[in-house]
Amino acid sequence: MNKSNVLSNQSQKIFLQALNKQPLNRPPFWFMRQAGRYLPEYRKLRKDTPNFLSFCYTPALTVEAALQPLRRFKPDAAILFSDILVIPDGLGQSVRFEEGVGPVLEPLRSVNDLSVLKPARVLDHLEPVFESVRTLSAALPEDVALIGFAGSPWTVAYYMVEGRSGQDGSTVKAWAQEDPDGFQKLIDILVSVTTNYLLKQIENGVEVIQLFDSWSGLLEAEQFERWIIKPTREIIAGLKKVFPHTPVIGFPRGAGTQTFSYADQTGIDAISLDSDIAPVWARDHLQSLCPVQGNLDNQALRSGGDPLERETMHILQTLSDGPFIFNLGHGILPDTPPDHVIQVADIVRSYNHSSS
Ligand code: CP3
Repeated sequence: MNKSNVLSNQSQKIFLQALNKQPLNRPPFWFMRQAGRYLPEYRKLRKDTPNFLSFCYTPALTVEAALQPLRRFKPDAAILFSDILVIPDGLGQSVRFEEGVGPVLEPLRSVNDLSVLKPARVLDHLEPVFESVRTLSAALPEDVALIGFAGSPWTVAYYMVEGRSGQDGSTVKAWAQEDPDGFQKLIDILVSVTTNYLLKQIENGVEVIQLFDSWSGLLEAEQFERWIIKPTREIIAGLKKVFPHTPVIGFPRGAGTQTFSYADQTGIDAISLDSDIAPVWARDHLQSLCPVQGNLDNQALRSGGDPLERETMHILQTLSDGPFIFNLGHGILPDTPPDHVIQVADIVRSYNHSSS
């Protein structure tokens, strides 16, 4: 394992500099879901591989998909092209993606169902992901950082138990409340496989990790502490033991004021914010703890025009005095015109913090 490669490249990559809290003339930027269906070139690439998981396990396709947004608008970071649900797939749960529906899993409903999971096969099953990391890492321009990712245990458990997106979470919450010891076994499996999966991503060349907790908004304080803060802290401790210098960005979407405890108690290096968090609140309450990332509304990005420009400037002016990475509050929506993304990229790239 080469622990020094991250540090030796650092000076050229403003994304890593921002995570390291170095002062910069302009903030770095990337966009969640910067690869994907809003790009015609992605739709063309995806057309011949209708099975989305097969697409995710074909390095030639994932590398191309990850590089497409770089050609369009030169973000400061590329993100590995994969999905958070390769973990349940790797564990042996049935996972498929249906056109117009999204992910459909054969749901786990109690501790007895955990016997279908096979943690020992995950890393072998996900070898194509590591090959994607190696190829992508070698293909990137020297000033672009490579982000790897995984879903947090709570968010992955949400899909494993609910079976689909768009549910209110009552089934997974009921299991967690009524049989916490049984549910803990699922979370423990996810903590362990996710840690090993992310360690492998770093070994193979990712320089930063983002942990997606897209469903953290479902839990109130006590449950948030047990099912989100604690497992996240365990994953980060496991990563830091081997790679102390690889930054981890946490994205607790919908966490509201619990975002503060998340940033304060998990050990993450930076916090990614959804669009419900006011930039002024983030500046006053979070930016002294760690770098913040965010949080342009993805619907404003889709709509474009003057409001998009105003919102972009408001975020830049509020947050650029401290350590900051410009991003969205959630992923690019599939019907977003690529020109709007280019417009925002141009504003951020030409923003000069010292003259604002
Ligand atoms: O550019 C990137 O950001 C990298 C790729 C990426 C994908 N999924 C590709 C994808 C990343 C980082 C993810 C993370 C992911 N996947 C999350 C966390 C972020 C979030 O959006 O909250 C979640 C919850 C998932 C699970 C998932 N994958 C859902 C709910 C869906 C269906 C809804 C949708 O957007 O289609 C997916 C499918 C998916 N993942 C697509 C892509 C490009 C669309 C698949 C297609 O091409 O048809």
